[in-house]
Parts: sequence; structure tokens; C-alpha cells
Amino acid sequence: MTRPKSIVVLTGAGISAESGLGTFRDKDGLWTKYDLNDVATPEGFARNPVLVHDFYNARRRNLVEAMPNAAHVALADLEQRFDGDFLLVTQNVDDLHERAGSRKLLHMHGELLKIRCEACDAVRAWREDLDLATTCPACATTGRLRPHVVWFGEMPLYMEAVYDALALCDLFVSIGTSGQVYPAAGFVADVRRRGIAHTVELNLDPSDGFSLFAEKIYGPATEVVPTFVERLLKS
Ligand code: APR
Repeated sequence: MTRPKSIVVLTGAGISAESGLGTFRDKDGLWTKYDLNDVATPEGFARNPVLVHDFYNARRRNLVEAMPNAAHVALADLEQRFDGDFLLVTQNVDDLHERAGSRKLLHMHGELLKIRCEACDAVRAWREDLDLATTCPACATTGRLRPHVVWFGEMPLYMEAVYDALALCDLFVSIGTSGQVYPAAGFVADVRRRGIAHTVELNLDPSDGFSLFAEKIYGPATEVVPTFVERLLKS
């Protein structure tokens, strides 16, 4: 591998699996226990906000107990030691990348430790349970708060910045994602279309888009990511 000048890394739930945070589509994944239409759509929230708050409150409590793992730490290390352009785009709503030290980071699906008010659009950091009696810290409206996460059918965040970085990168690395959810699942095809970037998949199992990657390394993220980062920094 020649030393890249500009790297984009995409992560998914698989990178946080070994920190005890469930993935979505694996055996025992969240979507085998919950109907995503009930807990991860605006329509589901309108239908039954109590069910949705319970779902995210449980995930938030789980998150504050979790710790970053060796894969999160390796990516923060890469960001600090790499002298070229670097951007980490995560589909994850957990804060384990930040806690590992990542800073050049975009949460395209939002953040679990933030809430948004549907009355005034304010976004605030939030670590407690949320329910219909909670009052917005910005506009004092009650019962209009929701987790600051992107639900199915809603526009992902920071997409202009993400596509700008994808348009310039010469190395695209995808870690711990099944490649089933767009637009993230389409990034590798976008990058390949330009024909100059090297593309690498690091995952436990082949993703839906595995055939589009020039290089594939399979195994637990805590093993394959630190090894890959060391190899990259030596290149
Ligand atoms: N190390 C590396 N990869 C792993 C590990 C691990 N320890 N454990 C699981 N994986 C891989 C699985 O093989 C799978 O390909 O992580 C992937 C997890 O896939 P999903 O559960 O589909 O999660 P993700 O791709 O992040 O989902 C995308 O869908 O539900 C929505 O908004 C949600 O951001 C999420 C999006």
C-alpha cells in the first residue's frame, strides 16, 4: 500500500460491538428484538413516543457504562499521527470515538447523548432519561424533545462535508458496517467511480458491498484495526 495523502474512514456498529453495544442486524442484533418502524421512524415516534423514549433511554444508559476499545483508540491514533487529510465518518450514535480521542469526526446519523427540541430545534447535550414530561432547556416547551438521532426516512447530517472529503480521498476504509443502509452503503461505489482511491473493508464478515472493495480483511475490529493502522503508518 502506498502512503495515502487523504483518508476517509467510515465506521458502523461493528466497531463498538466489543465495547458491549449491540449491532443492528447481527444475530441478537437490535432489529431482531425491535421493529425499526416502531422505534426508528418519525411515524413510530408520533404513534408511540413512550416506546421510543424507553428504547433510547435503555441504549443511553448502556452507553454511559461502555468504554472505547482498541479499534476506537487505533483510529484516534491514526488521526493524530497521520500527516495528510483525515476524516472519520461514523454511522454510530455512541460517543466512543470521541472518548478515544477522535476529533476529525462527523456523526452522520446523529448522537445519542444529545436531544433535539421539535418546537425550537435546539440541540443540547443530554445523559439522562428523556420522557414526555421533560422540558426543553432552551424554550421551556414540555413533551417535544426527541433523541438527536437520524431516523429512517430522515436526511443524514453533514452530507456535503462527507461528499467533499470522499471526492478528494485516495484511501477509503470501511469498518464494522453491513453495507445495507444508504447513503453510507454507497460511499465505496462513489469512491471507486473516481478510480484513484484504494478501498479497504475491515469487518467481521463480508458486507453486502464486499465485492466493491480492492482489499478485505476479516476479523474482530479490536484485532484487525490496530494492525491495519500500524501497517498504514509504516507505509
Ligand atoms: N468487529 C468487526 N465487525 C463486526 C464486529 C466486530 N466485533 N461485530 C459485528 N461486526 C460487523 C458485522 O459483520 C456487520 O457487518 O458489523 C456489521 C454491523 O452491521 P449492522 O448491524 O447492520 O450495523 P450498521 O452497518 O452500522 O447499520 C447501519 O443502520 O440501523 C441503522 O442507523 C442505524 O447506523 C445504523 C445503520
